[in-house]
Amino acid sequence: MKKLFIETLGCAMNSRDSEHIIAQLREKDNYETTDDLKDADLILINTCSVREKPVSKLFSELGIFNKKKKVDAKIGVCGCTASHLGDEIIKRAPYVNFVLGARNVSKISEVLHKDKAVEVDINYDESEFAFDDFRTSTYKAFINISMGCDKSCTYCIVPKTRGDEISIPIDLIIREASRAVDGGAKEIFLLGQNVNNYGRRFSGDREKVNFTKLLQELSKIKELQRIRFTSPHPFHMDDEFIEEFAKNPKICKSMHMPLQSGSTKVLKDMKRGYSKEWFLNRVKKLRQECPDVSISTDVIVAFPGESDEDFEDTLDVINQVRFNQIFSFKYSPRPQTQAEHFTNTVDADIASTRLTRLQNIHTDILDEINATSLGKTYRVYFENLIQDYYVSGRSDENIVIKVKGSDELLGEFRDVKITSIGRTILTGEIVA
Ligand code: SAH
Ligand code: SF4
Ligand code: F3S
Repeated sequence: MKKLFIETLGCAMNSRDSEHIIAQLREKDNYETTDDLKDADLILINTCSVREKPVSKLFSELGIFNKKKKVDAKIGVCGCTASHLGDEIIKRAPYVNFVLGARNVSKISEVLHKDKAVEVDINYDESEFAFDDFRTSTYKAFINISMGCDKSCTYCIVPKTRGDEISIPIDLIIREASRAVDGGAKEIFLLGQNVNNYGRRFSGDREKVNFTKLLQELSKIKELQRIRFTSPHPFHMDDEFIEEFAKNPKICKSMHMPLQSGSTKVLKDMKRGYSKEWFLNRVKKLRQECPDVSISTDVIVAFPGESDEDFEDTLDVINQVRFNQIFSFKYSPRPQTQAEHFTNTVDADIASTRLTRLQNIHTDILDEINATSLGKTYRVYFENLIQDYYVSGRSDENIVIKVKGSDELLGEFRDVKITSIGRTILTGEIVA
């Protein structure tokens, strides 16, 4: 068998795309994966372009790979940066053999055999193609439910790298989920840029099915125990969706609610489609229906035009909601976005100060939240072996918990009582 070295950057959708690429290469071209770059016959980087840093690192990394690789090994660039830079990549790094966009992953075998191929059509419709069953984890299955994004948030490059939004037919999703469950996964993780906008558009003539209905249908898979999903959009969090989330026992009680900014003015400039009040109202409804829910979010600080007062509004939302997890970033101007042309940029020092302040406030909140977990018992689904005879997993609320144990626990559920608290992982002992 030939050897494939693949590096995956970016979000869970990229991870799922990499699984599909690995499976296709295994089936059609007799490849197996290796962790040793020098041993590889094919080197792939599955890239992300959501912020500038990873993109600027791409070319230096390609240079290093080119130096270290076997003489006749091929190099391919896949994913979102492939989509937005296209043949520019081969112009800047002529030793790259092919470029494969995020919307074209099923064409991996074709591009492999055509030197200097560039397949980056963002309108290419893969929504009717079944993704392969190969998965890196036996216990949890990532499943795409839609491709692309129809929103036009002014800071975001994703609609330009993954194209218009199109939903994957429900029968394909159910089949994929059933197969994963038959293969031992007790948890599925549904993926899309706007999962709760599912059903907005299907390829061909298909009956309209919304996200709530999709969740209900998936819950009927008998051996399936847990359903997670990312990302829902706050704008589409209607009462029906929140009520289904709260009452469906298979849906994990952890919700990602990407805030981006707490200022209604900035949200308007970002074209997010909701206000500070709407966001807080949805959190209130969610907590009314589901008091134990944990909520995570994404925040961008120092978006062009963000004043001190706007930033205080973001901190106000953070203090009111007390998120369980925050992914926070400094605004990074991206090509082909509307905000790229905004001139009212925020000073770099101010941006750094704001990010640090936000992160410190969140850390204090998180320490207080974590402290309340001591002595509590959570139902944990074990997924990973970690060093020193520990096994880790997640609670329904998505808290990462480890216990002393061995691989016998993998894929199993246990009740775990928390005995000590860390910032990113709690430690406990099995009680049942
Ligand atoms: N569809 C998801 C977001 C996908 S991108 C949603 O709507 O929430 C993941 C995260 O990257 C975003 O939530 C945002 O916080 C961040 N991000 C996107 N573009 C960015 C940019 N130009 N600068 C900084 N962060 C950005
Ligand atoms: Fe980007 Fe907005 Fe689409 Fe999310 S909803 S992927 S932030 S354009
Ligand atoms: Fe990055 Fe593309 Fe995902 S830009 S965050 S890999 S959708």
